[in-house]
Amino acid sequence: SSDPLSTSEYIHIPSLVHHGIEGKTLLLSVETHFPLDKAEIQGTWSHTSPSGARVTLVTFNEGSAIVDMMYRDRLIFREPNVSLIIKGLNPDDEGDYQLNLNIKFRNKTGLVFKEERTVHVTVDVPVSIPVIEKSPSYAVVEDKANVTWTCSVERGTRVAFLWLRDNIVLGHNGRYHFSLDNSTLFISPVKKEDKGIYQCVAINPVSYSRKSRAVELTVYYGPYNLEVNSGQGLRTGEVFTINPGELVFFECQADSNPPNSYVWISKSHNDTQVITEGPRLEVRSYRLAQAEEYLCRAFNNVTQKQDEAQFTLVVASLGTAVITVCSLFIIGCMLLFFIIFTCHPKRGLSNCFVCDMTTHVSTGHEDATEDFGIYEFVSIPGKMESTQASCRSLARLESVQDMHTTIYDVIRHVPEMQSHSLLK
Ligand SMILES: *[C@@H]1O[C@H](CO)[C@@H](O)[C@H](O)[C@H]1NC(C)=O
Ligand SMILES: *[C@@H]1O[C@H](CO)[C@@H](O)[C@H](O)[C@H]1NC(C)=O
Ligand SMILES: *[C@@H]1O[C@H](CO)[C@@H](O)[C@H](O)[C@H]1NC(C)=O
Ligand SMILES: *[C@@H]1O[C@H](CO)[C@@H](O)[C@H](O)[C@H]1NC(C)=O
Repeated sequence: SSDPLSTSEYIHIPSLVHHGIEGKTLLLSVETHFPLDKAEIQGTWSHTSPSGARVTLVTFNEGSAIVDMMYRDRLIFREPNVSLIIKGLNPDDEGDYQLNLNIKFRNKTGLVFKEERTVHVTVDVPVSIPVIEKSPSYAVVEDKANVTWTCSVERGTRVAFLWLRDNIVLGHNGRYHFSLDNSTLFISPVKKEDKGIYQCVAINPVSYSRKSRAVELTVYYGPYNLEVNSGQGLRTGEVFTINPGELVFFECQADSNPPNSYVWISKSHNDTQVITEGPRLEVRSYRLAQAEEYLCRAFNNVTQKQDEAQFTLVVASLGTAVITVCSLFIIGCMLLFFIIFTCHPKRGLSNCFVCDMTTHVSTGHEDATEDFGIYEFVSIPGKMESTQASCRSLARLESVQDMHTTIYDVIRHVPEMQSHSLLK
């Protein structure tokens, strides 16, 4: 059963493909499946480079070996062990290594077995630090330019490349195009979010990853997110309410590279006029209850894009101002409502609030001039037939501001003749 002739394979090479590393040692291991002490052997190891050049490295028999002169320092061969060791691998060592072995068993006279094996060897070179390049080298304008990044290594085999922006690995997106080996990244078109610090990484199976130096991509963009802000005043949406005579600063801000230039424009009626330039506007206004329209316009002179934000400035005593304005508006509406529906010509004048008011006047005192002042309208439920509203003079109230009850108005002038005619 241990008859060596019964095996068809006298030698075995565990691995027919080897990836060596430059500078390291490679063992082309051969297992012999016959008793070395009962056989005579004779053979060669030879090397065929990828270009086809063939060299016999070792010629050997069971007792001696001759190593090619050129390889004497680098090859280790210890007959009758037919494994071959190559030291200090270099890229020129790549190629096919062929073992030819003739075996003659001493007890089988005359019979020679020929074995032939080929081992393929590649030599991987560790990667050097990659070199990153950007084209164009200058800053670019978003939406208008493309940028090409290239990564190269001076040394290194089977190199894979990766791209980082601000230390985050870049993957495919609609605007990022990678070459097949990833050594080129083409960004088209460039956007604001592409700005940042770029690095490329080179890696292969026999090295740690190597990072290039960092290169910044500057992108001109904007303006974006234009905003007008003020530390003072009361803001309601796009309306700023400020106190009369108060000095108020407005700040215009937008995200932009390079920084925007700003102009402030005042809009009144159809007339627009540039008030000032720069990010800050200073306003002091005494013109009560007048709404003024302003505009901040931001312009990026590199991207040639601009944006503007409009806002309204109302000068009023803060706090009561908003309530007053709203109240006055409601009064106006209600007055109109009463006049149209209560003082209808077909109904008696006694149903009209004016009548009711004058009734009060006539019962109290005759001089109408004393009744100039503020009147409050109080609706009285259940008295809809006789009176729609009773009027109460508020002429002697000290402060208008203190009056938070229903609705009031200021009567500045009552023509006497008219009130008399209304009485009739
Ligand atoms: C042959 O040599 C190699 C390398 O020195 C060694 O690893 C292997 O064990 C040897 N084989 C035998 C049978 O001694
Ligand atoms: C950017 O690349 C696109 C193709 O992706 C090309 O059509 C365009 O002309 C390029 N623009 C510039 C400024 O080179
Ligand atoms: C503003 O100007 C337009 C034409 O430029 C005109 O039609 C419009 O009536 C003007 N409005 C006012 C309030 O002046
Ligand atoms: C853009 O404006 C700045 C000042 O705001 C100026 O210094 C710069 O020269 C301008 N650039 C161009 C291209 O006009």
